[in-house]
Amino acid sequence: MDVIPYSRQSINEEDISLLSKAMSSDFLTQGPKIAEFEHALEEYFGVKHAVVCSSGTAALHLAYAAAGMNSESLGIVPAITFAATANAVRYQGGEVQFCDVEPDTGLISIESLQECLARVSEKQKEKNNLIAPVSFAGAVAPLAQCQKLASENNFILVEDASHSPGASTPDEQEGTISSCSGIHALASTLSFHPVKHICAGEGGAVLTNDLHVAQKALRLRSHGINRPFTETDDMPWYYEQESLGWNYRLTDLQATLGLSQLSRLDDFLAKRRKLARRYDQRLRESPFQEHINCPPFERGHAWHLYIIRFKEESLRNLAYKYLKSKNILTQVHYIPVYKHPYYQKQNQGFQLPGAEKFFQGCLSIPMYPDLKEKEQDRVLETLEQFLLKG
Ligand SMILES: Cc1ncc(COP(=O)(O)O)c(C=O)c1O
Repeated sequence: MDVIPYSRQSINEEDISLLSKAMSSDFLTQGPKIAEFEHALEEYFGVKHAVVCSSGTAALHLAYAAAGMNSESLGIVPAITFAATANAVRYQGGEVQFCDVEPDTGLISIESLQECLARVSEKQKEKNNLIAPVSFAGAVAPLAQCQKLASENNFILVEDASHSPGASTPDEQEGTISSCSGIHALASTLSFHPVKHICAGEGGAVLTNDLHVAQKALRLRSHGINRPFTETDDMPWYYEQESLGWNYRLTDLQATLGLSQLSRLDDFLAKRRKLARRYDQRLRESPFQEHINCPPFERGHAWHLYIIRFKEESLRNLAYKYLKSKNILTQVHYIPVYKHPYYQKQNQGFQLPGAEKFFQGCLSIPMYPDLKEKEQDRVLETLEQFLLKG
């Protein structure tokens, strides 16, 4: 029986042909495909600036650094996310404070965020602090509420949108709130890892409407180097390193693949939404509903992950093993980041109730654009067999 992963890339003939052409172009890196990809991202997401880089982690680091985060800063991060959202705070020498999440969605809890902010001293509020809500699994984080709290407390908002390109959610006041729009957050970051919506092998992007943030991210992406002169000036070769940066560049090969994938993003989203609808319909029936909660179904959800929540942790753990024995691979997204030994060293025994509850039951079942309905049926039938087995 073929293996069904929880997620995987979708590569077609067009991707392969464009990539193979790019291999014989003059530029494997630092060439014209970088700006082309950036312009395409700006157009798609309706933002003024996109800065592409080597990974989603690099995008977070660039965004935080460009927003002014430093070793005196505090970064408030939801506990249910990939470690990178928090790690990028540490790269800048800042302190991480974990915020709780809603136990049924894994999205940042506004109540917990208010409590976190209430604990911040007035002196600390004068520093370049940041809140990094994650539009988790493909659902838009409560960006408008986060923005309000951020501005009331002199914090900057950076959205980790690794899971949510193309996601939107209805809003009573604004009609619709979209991920990556640059309206509520100073910047949003994307990842182009193969399990994500757009694949570039590895890769990421910072999206922003703020020119200063974009220029700083651009400079830091390549060692902190500035090139102040153009080809027509006396010294077009001149460059200077203004600050300490990194080599976080994306290659032209990756940008070529990213461009091709971006042109299929609407199709990818439509396929994910169709699969989510099918899961939703089946999983609300017996015997699933006795043991499992489904994610709240939303039309604008980008469905990076389809996370079911078992009512009992032991059942989740057994289901993972049973499905694996039948060549169906699932994953736990996520272990609360504060549980990792690195963060426990700084905060022994720290726990948040919403994150613990979400973590205990969550399991990401297969979700990717090329998942066939027949394969999805196999996932559902195998899960049903497991539940009926008792
Ligand atoms: C929420 C979130 N943020 C950041 C990242 C980091 O992205 P990358 O793997 O491209 O560095 C990931 C990747 O899994 C992620 O899921």
